[in-house]
Amino acid sequence: MNLPALIQKKRDGSALTKEEIRYIIEGYTAGHIPDYQVAALLMAIYFRGMDMEEILSLTRAMLESGATIDLSDIPGPKVDKHSTGGVGDKTSLVLGPLVAAAGVKVAKLSGRGLGYSGGTIDKLESFKGFSVEMSRQQFVEQVKNIGIALSGQSKELVPADKKLYALRDVTATVDSLPLIASSIMSKKLASGAEAIVLDVKTGSGSFNGSLERAIKLANLLVSIGESMGRRTLALVSDMEQPLGHAVGNALEVQEAIACLRGKGPADLSTLCLELGTHMLTLSGAVPGREVARQKIQQVWQSGQALEVFRQLVAAQGGDPRPIDEPALFPQASIQREFRSPKTGWISRISAREIGLAALELGAGRKVKGEPIDLSAGIFLPHKVGAQVKKGQVLARLHSNRAQAFGPASELIAAAFEIGSQQPEPRPIIWAEVDAAKVKKQPSSSSN
Ligand code: URA
Repeated sequence: MNLPALIQKKRDGSALTKEEIRYIIEGYTAGHIPDYQVAALLMAIYFRGMDMEEILSLTRAMLESGATIDLSDIPGPKVDKHSTGGVGDKTSLVLGPLVAAAGVKVAKLSGRGLGYSGGTIDKLESFKGFSVEMSRQQFVEQVKNIGIALSGQSKELVPADKKLYALRDVTATVDSLPLIASSIMSKKLASGAEAIVLDVKTGSGSFNGSLERAIKLANLLVSIGESMGRRTLALVSDMEQPLGHAVGNALEVQEAIACLRGKGPADLSTLCLELGTHMLTLSGAVPGREVARQKIQQVWQSGQALEVFRQLVAAQGGDPRPIDEPALFPQASIQREFRSPKTGWISRISAREIGLAALELGAGRKVKGEPIDLSAGIFLPHKVGAQVKKGQVLARLHSNRAQAFGPASELIAAAFEIGSQQPEPRPIIWAEVDAAKVKKQPSSSSN
């Protein structure tokens, strides 16, 4: 096939065939097609979009570019969950144990944080000794034995995505719905679970921005999953303000543990209950949503879910003692407070600015592979809608870098808006997209 002709075809707005897409993905993964041609094609896709047939062909070609995980040896239903990421999103730490304690196996591959968006496996490394690198065999064995494993992305899975994502990152083509959807779903499909629940974020701390765009992405993800034979459901949830009160790895783990003890913030607890209910229902292990909800609540209240969390930490080599002795978690040497400049109602806490402030304090990485400070982060005692007095603490900053507090405080000042009236509460869940509710879009192009 002639690569310039394929680039031209997409550039001029025509759809690529499944054979053409496969040829490009195979050739690029094997190193036969150079970066500059694929970069040009990615830009053409960015502007022209892809129809549903093309998106499915791209997802399939990426999925088949590497190994897949076979969970068929594990008895019972297996379910996976994915969040498009955000600030303070420690949901997986709570949800995984809840669902596993309720009797459905959770086999989850997670990523590291990049930029202001956190990553589950970084958070889990707050436990000394916790290993996020597992062989496929160890992963499957652990899911069989304790019902849950949370591992880092295997290098053998979807190598095409690794190469394409790195190229998108340096060619301003990350932000394309067909490319995002095929990237996310190829990895989810390779992980082997038969049911997938997606948490698509909307708001300032998400990469999806507007609600309309988040719903569009949710539709695409569900369409791909269902077309590939997986039961798939997506919730669109709020990421305008950070989730919960804690932002930063060890601080978030402590909040997740409090949540498993039934003492979590309302937004985090609600989201976990909803996602957990869907995971259980979609797995087919329970007859319906109401039973699923009751089951999740029961393992939550009884302490069984916390017990599964403890087992998970120990099974992956972590020292579980900080679960009961939080002083054993990494602690920052400096803590400072940010106080309210006036009396009023908190009308906005921009997740994006809070995430950037946490990044300054050392909680995240500006470039891939950078070490992070597990103890760094921000605690926000109040959420949007709270009434505060001038001088009241709005944020507690934790860091080991004295020079970071200045820039971080400026970002926090920009994150907060204090108004004279109580704002309307924002919903935690904005939309639900399942197979029945996927909007018809096969013929329309997505970009
Ligand atoms: N997450 C992914 O895995 N891929 C993208 O393209 C964007 C977010």
